[in-house]
Amino acid sequence: MRANGEWLTIPEIVRAARARLAPHIWDFAAGGAESETTLRRNRAAFDCLTFRPRVLRDVRHRDLSTTFLGHSLSLPVMLAPVGSIQHFHPDGALACARVAERAGTITFVSTVASPSLEDVRAGSKGPLVFQLYVRGDREWLRAMIGRVERAGYAAVCVTVDSAAYGRRERDLENRYLARQSHGRPNLAVLPGGVGEVTREQYQAALTWDDVDWLRSMTSLPLMLKGVLCPEDAELAVQHGVDVVYVSNHGGRQLDHAPATVEVLPEIVCAVAGRADVIVDSGFMRGTDVLKALALGARAVLVGKLMAWGLAAGGEGGLECALDLLRDEIGTTMANIGVRTTAELGPACVRPSIPIGPEPGQMSSIPGIRSMKGTNGAGALRASEGT
Ligand SMILES: Cc1cc2nc3c(=O)[nH]c(=O)nc-3n(C[C@H](O)[C@H](O)[C@H](O)COP(=O)(O)O)c2cc1C
Repeated sequence: MRANGEWLTIPEIVRAARARLAPHIWDFAAGGAESETTLRRNRAAFDCLTFRPRVLRDVRHRDLSTTFLGHSLSLPVMLAPVGSIQHFHPDGALACARVAERAGTITFVSTVASPSLEDVRAGSKGPLVFQLYVRGDREWLRAMIGRVERAGYAAVCVTVDSAAYGRRERDLENRYLARQSHGRPNLAVLPGGVGEVTREQYQAALTWDDVDWLRSMTSLPLMLKGVLCPEDAELAVQHGVDVVYVSNHGGRQLDHAPATVEVLPEIVCAVAGRADVIVDSGFMRGTDVLKALALGARAVLVGKLMAWGLAAGGEGGLECALDLLRDEIGTTMANIGVRTTAELGPACVRPSIPIGPEPGQMSSIPGIRSMKGTNGAGALRASEGT
């Protein structure tokens, strides 16, 4: 931490998180599926877009706020569902919810996070979205949705990009069994008595019929997380989904998936205003957020940055990360001639020559080495020594 008690840049926070985390936990968060092309493409896609800055527009006052499902957001950034968030802060999803409340945004609470969805609700006041992994039959689902409704959640977000758990090679090579590494209080009281891997078959079996059934049995806003094709965005709208959540799970599921910012325009076009479109995967900087808003997203979510903020400095670290994002967004808005998020549109960006990362660096995150194949403490020492 710096002398004034704060980090001054986002890369500083990421470096601090890396220094504090056990190497296998850093790898668990930072890694992606198989050869990690999706992970890298998420960042590379931002580098293929530049702004079209407009000048002489009196941008002294900038308003970063927006609304989402009728809730006000003080900045267009929300906190993504992270199942194992308790590895990064002992209070897990509750810490995220408290920070979101103070920052004026929304947190998504994962099915496989701690503490229980009821405890997260009881310990915080801001709007919460429940992220649903399906781990049982329709009776199970009915019970789970009932809990979510009774607890007072604002929406249900069904993750649909996880028919099979991604092969994350850093975890495999570290012999780290992520799915068995922490408790799952939201699943503990449910019937079954079968293991997590068996329960994952329910997720694999999902179809649009299940979306219809879910739609019919709850009046909460319904989101689908993990949409990457306009055909599925169209189906989502036809099946009554309120929010299309464009995501490739931060590169953790399908290797060789498109970057979300690449497919965002065609999905926004397919949805044609009939649902909200939100997006995540690879977002680390204010410029990333503004590019997605320009391409039609209502808001952006951060997963790894949230985990790293917590790991670096607890709730204060996450608040600092959001403050730095806020600063970056405000500065960039001024320099592209935009005063409100509503003024952002496709005319604010253009395709450009890709700028790759410096050799060995994660794009746009100076000082953070890509670690595939060189993970663990050795890599940490190597990168910090240079
Ligand atoms: C450690 C970790 C655990 C995650 N757990 C979940 C989860 O339980 N449910 C889910 O839908 N997505 C989960 N995700 C994916 C995030 O919700 C989000 O899609 C992704 O992190 C966005 O990319 P980013 O990390 O580059 O911001 C997880 C991501 C990470 C990094």
